[in-house]
Amino acid sequence: MTPLPREQFPAVNRWAYLNHAGICPLPSSSVEALRRQAVEVSLDGEFTYAAHSAAIERARVSAATLMGVSSRDVAFVKNTSTGLGFVANGLEWAPGDRVVIPDGEFPSTLYPWLALADRGVVVDRVSGPLTTEAFAEKIAAGPPPKIVVTSWVQFGHGRRVDLAALSRVCRDAGALFCVDVIQGLGVIPARLEEWGVDFAMADGHKWLLGPQGCGVFYVRESCLDLLRPLEPGWNSVVHREDWDNPAYVPDVTARRLEGGMPNIAGIAALGTSIDLVLAAGIEEIWSHVDGLCERAREGFAGIGATVLSDGDAGYRSGIVSVHVDGIPIPLLAERLKARGIACSARAGGLRISPHGYNTEDEIDRLIVAVGEERG
Ligand SMILES: Cc1ncc(COP(=O)(O)O)c(C=O)c1O
Repeated sequence: MTPLPREQFPAVNRWAYLNHAGICPLPSSSVEALRRQAVEVSLDGEFTYAAHSAAIERARVSAATLMGVSSRDVAFVKNTSTGLGFVANGLEWAPGDRVVIPDGEFPSTLYPWLALADRGVVVDRVSGPLTTEAFAEKIAAGPPPKIVVTSWVQFGHGRRVDLAALSRVCRDAGALFCVDVIQGLGVIPARLEEWGVDFAMADGHKWLLGPQGCGVFYVRESCLDLLRPLEPGWNSVVHREDWDNPAYVPDVTARRLEGGMPNIAGIAALGTSIDLVLAAGIEEIWSHVDGLCERAREGFAGIGATVLSDGDAGYRSGIVSVHVDGIPIPLLAERLKARGIACSARAGGLRISPHGYNTEDEIDRLIVAVGEERG
């Protein structure tokens, strides 16, 4: 038995699908949610709106539950980059303001801060293993940063950052704390509010098992007023749907960041996927995935491959990256694809990322295939 029901994932009939750090296969119930919204609008147009708005609010509560935050502090966004842009472009900057961020971040996590160069913003990189101490050292190496930015889990080798510990360092330094959670949310239990995260964002198409181009954004209540809403529209104000009232009075919740018509089908499907995760239990999913990753690390070591991911309990995630001699990694990923095994080539390694419906047999199949392809 797997925590997530395998029958929800028709992809299992075609693949050993081990690429949730890339793009997940959609569960059947979320496909049905997409279809239902489209069919209903095809029949009744605007008369579906009230019911669909209610579905959005249910999805918001589900997303907030998974993040460990209040639903008032959650907005739906197009993707992770949009959420990062809301922070980078919504904050007020002065020349010389510092941003601290790790080396080797996913491009979307880095670019919004580099793009502030014309406002005199300085971006400082943390290099080497991402310990809390390494962040603390970089933070202390210059004027107090305005914000510290990091991925919860690095996209390449899957190293996890200790958010609770790092947020304390940020608070002591007077810095805001912004976390790209796309590579952890949906597989690792999250308590973002308790951990002291100020801003967090994730698109749905990885571990959240949702469709592409529909994500979540968290802003701590005390930080909401720090962000200038970048896309104000009818849906951002306290009196939404009072079409004759031209006053711009931003909503008091994170909804003020949602400008116009939301992606109703996408949010309904994302909410359905999150509900699947919540029903399975995030602790159960994490324990299962952690076990599969441990099996993969052992299996790879057993065939003489070099595991690049840290196996330490505090640093590991749902990603295992491995280097294999004797075959270029992109070619290896292609050969595995031809054998019905889905993983990817990233940061010099073969990256695997199982979820709560994958099995030990699938991991064993992967290890045997890698051993054979390497020759
Ligand atoms: C750390 C990280 N951030 C962001 C993204 C994607 O950004 P977006 O949701 O804007 O496409 C990815 C992967 O594609 C990622 O690994």
